[in-house]
Amino acid sequence: MIFRQLFDCASSTYSYLLASRRGGEALIIDPVLERVDRYLQLMTELDLKLVKAVDTHLHADHVTGLGALRDRTHCITVMGEQSGVDVVSMRVAEGDKLEIEGLSLDVLYTPGHTDDSYSFLMGDRVFTGDTLLIRGTGRTDFQNGDPRDQYHSIFDKLLKLPDETLVYPAHDYKGDTVSTIGEERAFNPRLQVKSIDQYVELMSSLNLPNPKMMDVAVPSNMRQGLAQETIARRGWALTAEQAVELVGRPDVAFIDLREKTEREKRGVIPGSLHAPYRDLPTNIRPGGVLHELARLSGKRMLFYCAFGERSAMAVMAAQEAGLASACHIQGGLAAWKKAEGPVDR
Ligand SMILES: [Fe+2]
Repeated sequence: MIFRQLFDCASSTYSYLLASRRGGEALIIDPVLERVDRYLQLMTELDLKLVKAVDTHLHADHVTGLGALRDRTHCITVMGEQSGVDVVSMRVAEGDKLEIEGLSLDVLYTPGHTDDSYSFLMGDRVFTGDTLLIRGTGRTDFQNGDPRDQYHSIFDKLLKLPDETLVYPAHDYKGDTVSTIGEERAFNPRLQVKSIDQYVELMSSLNLPNPKMMDVAVPSNMRQGLAQETIARRGWALTAEQAVELVGRPDVAFIDLREKTEREKRGVIPGSLHAPYRDLPTNIRPGGVLHELARLSGKRMLFYCAFGERSAMAVMAAQEAGLASACHIQGGLAAWKKAEGPVDR
């Protein structure tokens, strides 16, 4: 396995680059905008292809690298289902798996620092975001934070992991890099409380100043810009209402770019083909299944995904590969459901 812990000095943020092998797919957790060039250089050096960029929560102390990585690698951008961040193209929830080639992370919903805070468990290690820090815990006094939720996330979820589980947080301000669940249970001063009320009292009495970057970082992290806006300007987008009219038409192929787990959970547009986003480069090349389908059948290629971001990137790539009929459903299956389009379970 390739595992790199990367550090942003300005915000004391740790980012994590994961891959199962050289030459394979990579995932990055909590990338920082100013470090994006460095990540891309490292991935080139290690011959990795970035397929997913994940934020553990909406950050208030640095600008996320999600938008820049999306623009430069066309990777899938991931956050929790509570997230209202525009750039996110895939939302996950408790119990889901976050997968890339050769690696699978369990998704744990661990609210408290914010209401969109997630942790990711991968075998012997857990990425705890700002929920559990080394000898500390993330503040709970803004961004819908809640010390009660955080107590449950830590005591009922994270501390239930085996003692030897390695803890990799999103920040450290003292120079520590890694801890373990057992060590934190024993030595984390915030966790030496006798009750939830005592924890709430402790967290409510911290009186911390707002992060320096907060006024810049939060709005900027909420709006990283949409791939869909470009596609719509070029006339390659249909509204969900327009797309609903095309169901069952013999000259239109609905193509679902989501992953198998998303299809099982949220349902599919009746009669749609499954062609996951990760296989897109192969599928749209001459000889690829989508390229040949378009060529041989003359069908209009109508891509869709969860929210319209992956499908917008797919339209761009397909148009570049010569599939002139490629377009997508703006807003994805979420908009489709709002337009009361039919869904097969
Ligand atoms: Fe945070």
